[in-house]
Amino acid sequence: MTATEDSTPLDQQLDYYRARAVEYDQWWLRQGRYDRGASLNSQWFADAAVVSSALAEFRPAGRVLELACGTGIWSEKLFPFASHLTVLDGSPEMLAINSARLNSPLVQYIEADLFQWQPIEPFDTVFFGFWLSHVPPERFASFWQMVRSCLAPGGRVFFVDSRHEPTSTAVDHLLPAKEGTVLRRCLNDGREFQIYKVFYEPTELAGRLHELGWHFDLRQTNHYFLYGSGNRTE
Ligand SMILES: C[S@@+](CC[C@H](N)C(=O)[O-])C[C@H]1O[C@@H](n2cnc3c(N)ncnc32)[C@H](O)[C@@H]1O
Repeated sequence: MTATEDSTPLDQQLDYYRARAVEYDQWWLRQGRYDRGASLNSQWFADAAVVSSALAEFRPAGRVLELACGTGIWSEKLFPFASHLTVLDGSPEMLAINSARLNSPLVQYIEADLFQWQPIEPFDTVFFGFWLSHVPPERFASFWQMVRSCLAPGGRVFFVDSRHEPTSTAVDHLLPAKEGTVLRRCLNDGREFQIYKVFYEPTELAGRLHELGWHFDLRQTNHYFLYGSGNRTE
């Protein structure tokens, strides 16, 4: 998988994550190009613990759906809470790592393009980690419409994403201006891809979601993460 000149950022975004699957967890574990030194790494892990606690307090319940599940960093946190866990990703490489990690016949795996997929069953909880920022701005409303169509009556959503913080990414990744939406990302071997990355402020995002019929309580950790939970207002 290499980026070709005529592939769109949306194609390249999935190609990037497919190729990155084997090295993906280095970002979360602050290893290799993502190692920012002891002090910033411990800030990262402290912020991650805040989000994990908030997710436990939220208590995902019932039929849980995780969108863009990746290698399973969050799937394994969701699994103990769920009566049924369904995880979806467009990358078979990510799904294979996720499946090896959770190692449970009780998890249902779906390989699908999130911009084409529609649910065929309702879910009580929908979760997505570090995915909203990769939804192109022009697809924001249709993405939330799809999330809405996933929810059973009384269903709830929890998500976590990145704050605009330069040390959150690899040392050789430049963070664009806050209002930029397409940026360059590279792999350990130097291959380059274009991806979407949209940063949100909690108040502004909660306001936009309110306009779409959602009530969200959104928070930020000290440095790195935006997170929160919500449900439909009607
Ligand atoms: C930033 S990663 C987040 C992974 C995981 N949620 C986490 O927090 O570690 C984005 C994920 O979206 C997946 N992805 C990218 N484009 C996709 C698409 N069009 N449809 C479904 N999944 C996609 C990637 O394969 C990757 O696993």
